Amino acid sequence: MTHHRSAWRNRWTFMLATAGSAIGLGNIWKLPYMIGVNGGSAFVLVFIASIFFVGIPLMMTEILLGRRAQKNPLDGIESLALEAKASRHWRYLGGMGMLTGLLILSFYSVIGGWVLSFISTAANGNFVGISGEQSTENFNQLLASPFTLLFWHTVFMVMTMGVVARGVNSGLEKANNILIPALFAILLILLGYSMSVGDMQSAYQFMFSPDFSKITPVAVLSALGHAFFSLSLGMGAVMVYGSYLQRDVSIARASIYIALADTMLGLVIGLAIYALVFANQLTPNAGPGLIFQTLPIAFGQMPGGTLIATLFFILVAFAAWTSAISLVEPTIAWVVENTDISRKTATTTLGLIIWVLGISVVLSFNEWQNVKIVFGLNIFETLDKLTSTILLPLGGLLIAIFAGYFMKQDHVQEELNLPHRSFKIWMCMNNIIAPIGIGAVFLYLLNIIQ
Ligand code: PFF
Repeated sequence: MTHHRSAWRNRWTFMLATAGSAIGLGNIWKLPYMIGVNGGSAFVLVFIASIFFVGIPLMMTEILLGRRAQKNPLDGIESLALEAKASRHWRYLGGMGMLTGLLILSFYSVIGGWVLSFISTAANGNFVGISGEQSTENFNQLLASPFTLLFWHTVFMVMTMGVVARGVNSGLEKANNILIPALFAILLILLGYSMSVGDMQSAYQFMFSPDFSKITPVAVLSALGHAFFSLSLGMGAVMVYGSYLQRDVSIARASIYIALADTMLGLVIGLAIYALVFANQLTPNAGPGLIFQTLPIAFGQMPGGTLIATLFFILVAFAAWTSAISLVEPTIAWVVENTDISRKTATTTLGLIIWVLGISVVLSFNEWQNVKIVFGLNIFETLDKLTSTILLPLGGLLIAIFAGYFMKQDHVQEELNLPHRSFKIWMCMNNIIAPIGIGAVFLYLLNIIQ
């Protein structure tokens, strides 16, 4: 069956769409609280190392697989496996990635809903002059109300599936062009403000003065897993975006720019937040509510804070939206390329399934708070840990092994098109450093669990 495949209009739309996938709640919501929960600087150090030694090379690998296969991840990996005379069972790696994306979206959408609800809270001027206690109280009230959470989760799902149903290169490409630069601009305002009123010195110390005694195995795994989550790696999202990419784009350059932008953005917001945390005597390890509790205080004190806060949460919602789209695109591409089901029907059905799963996540913040699934984790925590610390790194490990040891080197080089030296560096990272790094962390963890 041949289907028309869409393509990016030019290299910038690819860069922006992939950056749009990478930049999202992972940077703005998750990285800051993970830094706090995992003890600060040690986590940051391992995170940055994971981005450079594992994230960038694997982003190149995913893009090259996608562009060579020109298909959705499942069929794409199968055809690359057949080209390389390897087992066609490699296709299940694509299938695992698709499933991972759907599991992530089920909680991503609920957090996206928190952001949407904060747009209206901000716009109503509810942050003006707010104290730390009031801010925490407001957030707890939101969590305690399943119907409000469900409403915003539903809005977020409808927004996401609405775009996916129309296909990748409709309005979204254009929106990215404006929104990502705007998000950077508003973050700089926030950083500037935090620098002037916050305790930047303590924030800097907390995030960047390495304290090796705090590097625990769990922190290492979380940091590595978060590098995957933040760069959208290990589940085929970047692969599917790569499959819409023209041949004349340098994969290495694109990967480096995207990874740098993504990492910088996360660290900047981290600094801005911790400067406020320390200046307002808040606790760094507040967990998933961190930005929702700290930022309103800052916005509430700033001149023009209501407007800036509203704009901020609108931009975060957009960032979350562009990421959410990439979580379902691999599966939708697979259905559309294999069946006669229309893109719209496929999107609606899948959207409904994820929405229902999302309801259990909503309940895990209130009614089902004490329902534990494994290791004392509730539903939200289980989905989060399962995807970020197991499925994404495992997907990344297998992708690296597949490209490094099963594909023909000249096929890989045809896509990467790198000078000899740089190609060797990529090979060393993809074939040796990344698999050993990920494998070692997994083994260590298995040991602890037993
Ligand atoms: N990278 C996104 C973020 O940081 O918010 C989340 C994400 C999107 C993860 C797409 C994985 C993915 F495939």
